[in-house]
Amino acid sequence: VASKGTGKEKLTALLEKTETKALSAIADTKSSATLDELKREYLGKKSVLKQVNESLKDLATEERPEVGRAISSYREKIAAAIAEKEEKLQKSGGEPSDIVDLTLPPRNQPRGHYHLITQVERELVDIFVGLGYQVAEGPEVDTDWYNFEALNFPPGHPARDMQDTLYVNRGNGTDAVLRTHTSPVQVRTMEKQKPPVYVVVPGRVFRQETLDARHSPVFHQLEGLAVDESITMGDMFGTIKTFLSAFFGRDVRTRFLPSFFPFTEPSAEFAASCVFCDGVGCNVCSKTGWIEVGGCGMVDPNVFLAVGYDPEVVSGFAFGFGLERMAMLRHGIGTIASFYQNDVRVLQQF
Ligand code: DAH
Repeated sequence: VASKGTGKEKLTALLEKTETKALSAIADTKSSATLDELKREYLGKKSVLKQVNESLKDLATEERPEVGRAISSYREKIAAAIAEKEEKLQKSGGEPSDIVDLTLPPRNQPRGHYHLITQVERELVDIFVGLGYQVAEGPEVDTDWYNFEALNFPPGHPARDMQDTLYVNRGNGTDAVLRTHTSPVQVRTMEKQKPPVYVVVPGRVFRQETLDARHSPVFHQLEGLAVDESITMGDMFGTIKTFLSAFFGRDVRTRFLPSFFPFTEPSAEFAASCVFCDGVGCNVCSKTGWIEVGGCGMVDPNVFLAVGYDPEVVSGFAFGFGLERMAMLRHGIGTIASFYQNDVRVLQQF
């Protein structure tokens, strides 16, 4: 570096320049591996430091102390900067961001999933597809004819009061309704096809209802319809027991209580033995041992007449129930609003 006769200025200037370069390189370093390299480069055997040190003996005696001090100062500053950086890298996890560790497992990619109502709907549809049913859908805004009249609710009939209907005034004299149930799709399906009919209808329905723990103005139903020659109530009982057992994952007992729906005769409300207490009585079933699921019955001859089927030739059964209720029962969900608030802490549990 310094041939004979070069002065202390040259050596101290060289040290100063090298020091500036070293300090900025150390500051820029992001991994302990490159920090080790810098340590070797600026303090090691082949460093400028080493060379200046060796040149000391060639200096005039009176020049040596000053260059000696410059050497110590250089060494101390670089060593301190390296030590500080080492600590910093260790604190920040010490994981060098410029080194890819191919042995690490891949980072978890968060994945979405279907909403619980969609899951329940698909599961139920699958169960019925397994029983030979097809899937049908219909409009959410429908006419009075499909939602009521063809289902044997004549205009002004008190049975209409069972449904808290939201009417849509279209301004042209023909009122439409937000369908209050999925039953209108029974009519739409039978109009389009000849018997036999085996369909399930999942869908959204609307009622003039105040939101409380178990009711919502918008909810979902699954409707079922089987029409064929010589369908009996026995077929209905068996079908309902089969799908309830499949859905709840265990053999349930069923209960049918007489009820009224204009589009079925006779009509019934069906319940499953409580899957939590096996019918003994618990909080879920309000100590009754039964959980109410939905309505069902044998298709009323008037409905067959409305769609042009001959009630002397065919018979059938139908049923309908709410999907939210099924999900709440199976998963112990207390308030129906949980399904619509989009709180991922709730939804991601399912
Ligand atoms: N549509 C009825 C409701 O929403 C439920 C229902 C009852 C559907 C009996 C049916 C049935 O198909 O046969 O309250």
